[in-house]
Amino acid sequence: MKIAIIGAGYVGLVTGVCLADFGHDVVCIDKDQCRIDALNRGEIPIYEPGLADLVKANAGAGRLSFSVELRDAVAGAEVVFIAVGTPSRRGDGHADLTYVFAVAREVADAVDGFTVVVTKSTVPVGTGDEVARIIANTNPEADVAVVSNPEFLREGAAIEDFKRPDRIVVGIEEERARSVMNEVYRPLYLNQAPIMFTGRRTAELIKYAANAFLAMKITFINEVADLCEATGADVQQVARGIGLDNRIGSKFLHAGPGYGGSCFPKDTLALVKIGQDFESPMRLVETTVAINDQRKRAMARKVIASCGGDVRGKTIGVLGLTFKPNTDDMREAPSIDIIQGLMDKGAHVVAYDPQGMDSARELLPKEVDYADSAYEAAIDADALVLITEWNEFRSLDLGRLKLSMKSAVLVDLRNVYRYDEVARHGFAYASIGRHGDSRGTSEAQAAE
Ligand code: NAD
Ligand code: UDX
Repeated sequence: MKIAIIGAGYVGLVTGVCLADFGHDVVCIDKDQCRIDALNRGEIPIYEPGLADLVKANAGAGRLSFSVELRDAVAGAEVVFIAVGTPSRRGDGHADLTYVFAVAREVADAVDGFTVVVTKSTVPVGTGDEVARIIANTNPEADVAVVSNPEFLREGAAIEDFKRPDRIVVGIEEERARSVMNEVYRPLYLNQAPIMFTGRRTAELIKYAANAFLAMKITFINEVADLCEATGADVQQVARGIGLDNRIGSKFLHAGPGYGGSCFPKDTLALVKIGQDFESPMRLVETTVAINDQRKRAMARKVIASCGGDVRGKTIGVLGLTFKPNTDDMREAPSIDIIQGLMDKGAHVVAYDPQGMDSARELLPKEVDYADSAYEAAIDADALVLITEWNEFRSLDLGRLKLSMKSAVLVDLRNVYRYDEVARHGFAYASIGRHGDSRGTSEAQAAE
């Protein structure tokens, strides 16, 4: 099939390269000339495991190309995916649909023959209706079916998620779109991925409901972690104890510094706004948003408490800046608020991240210093804070760290380490929802 993808960002690029890998003929369009030039040189603008090799293989095989010119690619396509950003609108938190609607107008002018226009961007309920209206108004001759096909991939595992999805959701309003979308995803039937057809509005809501539910699950365990700290219980064992119940499930029950990223924060906020617009308030989601916002700053207070209540003039080494491991994405990363909270109280921060430091430099205060390794970040530090659980932070040489630090304080906001091993090396240790005397912690961790 001939497919055009508009927007070669995280989702557009991964969708494009995976569809090309399935054998389709794909053109990825982006208005960012530098991005397209880089892609044409074989340079990948984001860090995502496996992406560079897949782009190289499919571009080399002639199934994948990149361009800034939308018109020809859309005219030649049977299916056009819209994969541009839908960030929070400044001021009110609604999803900003400017980019989606701009693409709809451009696509309307360029389509040639029956074309399925698929919204892959995460968009509020009713956006597909508006995209169809814009296309019809812009070009009454355009023969299109507008479909919603939300994307559920996670950064850091994007290719695996796209190729082995738990489900594919396709919202259609016209039957003739069904066979086209079945054809797009036919190669996935081999992986037995269920494809679920719904109405377009339902598909749009499924995406927000899924993200909000996961954000709520994380927020729930984070609050339970606080309760564990207050009561002497152990959050990892609580998570395991409830997660073994199949009705609850063990995933997304890792307590931490609060969720971040390009999706959960903006999508939960957008769902709150959708609820308000339809006078059907999403109170649980409203509360989730508020709790998560407060949590990031609370983590800075936790670090300060671990440093004896005062960080003025002290050096804090920070391990991990991105919102999660295996990405260079810093969008809404908890590290931003935590570092700001520490600096507001007079701390000097030395940070290290395996992939995120370039993006971090643009977002963090310019007074932050950067190290080339975890060990360098620890030199003369009064405390070390682990914010993102990159694999290379999982088995650090604690003895070596301690020797180079001014005082041996480790604040582990991802519960990577065990109390006994950290204590053995003489560290003062704080983590999330756990206590030094928790029995069975290592057993629970080993089972995860
Ligand atoms: P992104 O910011 O990484 O990429 C968007 C791209 O669209 C940019 O490269 C931009 O230059 C391009 N663009 C904007 N307007 C354009 C136009 N008129 N013509 C051509 N290109 C244009 O965004 P993303 O993270 O890929 O997210 C895209 C959508 O997918 C969002 O709605 C997001 O919520 C959703 N989503 C993202 C993820 C994720 O993990 N990042 C996962 C699922 C869904
Ligand atoms: C999320 C959704 O999972 C994905 O389906 C959607 O398409 C895009 O948004 P992503 O943002 O890439 O994906 O990462 P995810 O793995 O969901 O993590 C989001 C945030 O939650 C991260 O900050 C992560 O550290 C945090 N998290 C996740 C936890 O704190 N605990 C958990 O148990 C899981």
